[in-house]
Amino acid sequence: MARKKIALIGAGQIGGTLAHLVGLKELGDVILFDIAEGVPQGKGLDIAESAPVDGFDARYTGAQDYSAIQGADVVIVTAGVPRKPGMSRDDLLGINLKVMEAVGNGIKQYAPDAFVICITNPLDAMVWALQKFSGLPPTKIVGMAGVLDSARFRHFIAEKVGVSVKDVQAYTLGGHGDDMVPLVRYSSVGGVPLPDLVKMGWISQADLDAMVERTRKGGGEIVALLKTGSAYYAPAASAISMAESYLKDQRRMLPCAAHLSSQYGVDGLFIGVPVVIGANGVERIVDIEFTGEEKAMFEKSVASVQGLVDACKTINPSLA
Ligand code: APR
Repeated sequence: MARKKIALIGAGQIGGTLAHLVGLKELGDVILFDIAEGVPQGKGLDIAESAPVDGFDARYTGAQDYSAIQGADVVIVTAGVPRKPGMSRDDLLGINLKVMEAVGNGIKQYAPDAFVICITNPLDAMVWALQKFSGLPPTKIVGMAGVLDSARFRHFIAEKVGVSVKDVQAYTLGGHGDDMVPLVRYSSVGGVPLPDLVKMGWISQADLDAMVERTRKGGGEIVALLKTGSAYYAPAASAISMAESYLKDQRRMLPCAAHLSSQYGVDGLFIGVPVVIGANGVERIVDIEFTGEEKAMFEKSVASVQGLVDACKTINPSLA
């Protein structure tokens, strides 16, 4: 059987980490695409030179031309620019929207059958625009946010409770912003829901509230520490788990920014909800019933995403 082909659009911090993980996990051959000449070639060569040491087989190709992604099974998109001081949200939106247009056209022409995972921020609006520009079926494109936000929450819980991260489950839904919705009720340690852990005295309600807040601001915490960039190890690992579920038909249930077409009372937006990812892409959207408080938080988050999407439509009226 031929190896799978994984195209990484954007060979920056996350793109390079993705390329390394694809090799270490032997998920397939890698195409690294970037407008920065030499960078995808250099990162590809560097990782390929680590393969004899780590003992994995994967071919790495750097490219500046979209024809290189021809026939890719999976495309992971990190292309774009981060927000810089003095840049407004709309400035960033305008720049990355143009990037999504170029990437979407490239996918439409060369990899229309791929499963696409978008990571570029502002995530929920960019994945929405990328679906429009690429014309992909909504089941074949998702945004990566929920796995990362949930992983952050899981890390904080495991550290606080003093147990292995392997035994901690957590769900973070809604948009990928400060008003995301960590679902405490469905988060658990060894199957014991967090509210029960509070009752049992393992953690205090104040601890739990602090962890929820830290999760919401998790991206900013890393930016403040790194100073020159944003997180890349955990975002890359999160996207790889989504790609692996598709490539190996694992049917994992993961929180992803998925296209909603009536579920959760939302129509035509990409919002973070639990989905099952298998060989056909998004095979199921899990429509959880919220409590009143969760519903209010979710609706606030949806309103933020709608605001970003409306701004995209104003910047590029062809999207309206
Ligand atoms: N086509 C292809 N690549 C592009 C384009 C484009 N039009 N515009 C920019 N790039 C490339 C840059 O050259 C750079 O190598 O995208 C890469 C982005 O990499 P980094 O700046 O290192 O950003 P990274 O940390 O990888 O994050 C990427 O993910 O989490 C989000 O907010 C983050 O939007 C950002 C994205």
